[in-house]
Amino acid sequence: MQSADRMARWMASCAAALVLAVASLAAGGQSVAANNGAAEKPASQQSERDWWKNAVIYEIYPRSFQDTNGDGIGDLNGITQRLDYLQELGVDAIWLTPIYPSPQVDFGYDISDYRAIDPQYGTLADFDRLVEEAGKRHIRVIMDMVMNHTSDQHRWFLESRSSRDNPYRDWYVWRDGKGETATSPGEPPNNWQSYFGYSAWQWDPKTRQYYYHKFYIQQPDLNWYNPKVHQAFKDIIAFWLKRGVGGFRFDAITTLYEDPKLRDEGVVKDKNGNPIINAYGDPQLDDSRTNNQPGVHAVIAEMRATADRFNSARFPGTRVLIGETYLPNVAELAKMYGTPQKPEFQLPMDTQVGFINKLDVTEFRSRLIDAETKIDGNTPLLLFDNHDNPRIDARYGDGAHNREIERVIATVLFASRGAALFYYGDEIGMVTTPPRRKQDVKDPIGITGWPKEKGRDGERTPMQWNDGANAGFTTGTPWLPVPPSAAAINVEAEKNDPDSLFNWYRSLIQLKKTVSAFAHGANVMLDTENTAVLSWLRQAPGMPQVVVSANFTAEPQIVNLEAGEAGLKPGHLKTLLKSPGGADPASLEQIDLGPFGVYIGEIE
Ligand code: GLC
Repeated sequence: MQSADRMARWMASCAAALVLAVASLAAGGQSVAANNGAAEKPASQQSERDWWKNAVIYEIYPRSFQDTNGDGIGDLNGITQRLDYLQELGVDAIWLTPIYPSPQVDFGYDISDYRAIDPQYGTLADFDRLVEEAGKRHIRVIMDMVMNHTSDQHRWFLESRSSRDNPYRDWYVWRDGKGETATSPGEPPNNWQSYFGYSAWQWDPKTRQYYYHKFYIQQPDLNWYNPKVHQAFKDIIAFWLKRGVGGFRFDAITTLYEDPKLRDEGVVKDKNGNPIINAYGDPQLDDSRTNNQPGVHAVIAEMRATADRFNSARFPGTRVLIGETYLPNVAELAKMYGTPQKPEFQLPMDTQVGFINKLDVTEFRSRLIDAETKIDGNTPLLLFDNHDNPRIDARYGDGAHNREIERVIATVLFASRGAALFYYGDEIGMVTTPPRRKQDVKDPIGITGWPKEKGRDGERTPMQWNDGANAGFTTGTPWLPVPPSAAAINVEAEKNDPDSLFNWYRSLIQLKKTVSAFAHGANVMLDTENTAVLSWLRQAPGMPQVVVSANFTAEPQIVNLEAGEAGLKPGHLKTLLKSPGGADPASLEQIDLGPFGVYIGEIE
């Protein structure tokens, strides 16, 4: 499966490099983040300060969200136009994948200027208007910050490659090849590979050296051993914070550093001892020298200190730093929060839970317990989807009950403690729609890796607003085709259907915001031997308890929750939300759930 391949590249390999040190940290689910606290403040200021701890964050792929000028590519004005929709959904912040000027080889992740807006998406004035209009609706705008690499068209790289003694030479990672002669570049410096296939070293004939790129050839890696690179990004961050952004999502943050000794990486083997071959035909490497190197923590702390200095009148409240943190285990995730003295991310993404990629109750339970007990009381950021992986239908669906399964996933996302991140279109159940023919592929990895790797177009198709032409996304020709499923799966249709997934999302988000135990309570697992149903309790001192039960199977199930277990109080259940057609339980001892059914009730 393509997602498995992709995740394997990100995760399995780094697992091999790291010691599985499962620290037995104090359990307890205290909902107060230990290392993000400041002195106590009055309630209103405190909620501004803590907005991110129970936040609902919506990822927008701007290219695919809403086009307003008919060029088939989404734009900033399109996002502004849809802010009322996002407010209605209950979103606190939107994270925009990169909108800076870019040759668009990696659709914006190859940045050629960090202080401007790509004309395809609009202007800085459009951006300021978006921030202002979003602010009026209490929605913060979070920028993507790509620090691992720039575009090869960035001024820094053009300088860097122009001569060996250019002042920018040392901003990137340049090395001699092995066995170079006057007529041949020789071999690359070592065996390191790009995540996007083939050697991570690109020969540059002009200055007769190789440069390193963890991603596309057009995305040369910056040299983080150079202090000037650090300063450049602190300045860039300040530039956007001054414009009122609510924070940043740090792209590919774990790959900033590489082993300075350039040691080869190991080959990942299958259980029979044979090398695993990736989509591009090369042996998969273990990532041990190019991912999650220790230096990264100091950089995150440095960026956090920069962000912490900002507080604008327009956006009182904490600027939040989110990390793209694909990591091998929860111990590594815990490190990404930093310490009280040196805080790092407020919200590193918890990819442990969201990318289990199968509905396995025991696995979900164990990873949710980790999120509650092994991150030092910090705030988890759960997510199940993004622009790099096939959508939820493709990773969790069974083909027959996808809607119900999407309800289960949304329940885990919003009814667990912490911040919740989801991807545009998840709220209506958009379907992964990969290209059928190689000639239609837009994402370059889908061209080089075809057919094993079809690229990421399938999860980046236009937002489906209605059942009209191009699903209401554009009046022009959309840059990626609108999936045929848009006829039935679209915002307009789902808004009018009380049983739709859209209304399920909206209800869950409302509960997250209004039920005290959801907003502030710890997560405690219940009925922990059950292998069919995941049940948990949300409880905060002095507030009514809430129980959640989600059936992970296609068979009906009856759950028997025992008062006394994990502090569960006896009482009558008042239904807060249940799957369409679900029953109101007679008691805690008998909660009836249909196939993939969900029940949420408050104990009175
Ligand atoms: C991150 C982005 C992905 C991009 C890569 C290189 O993983 O999410 O879309 O291709 O970084 O910037």
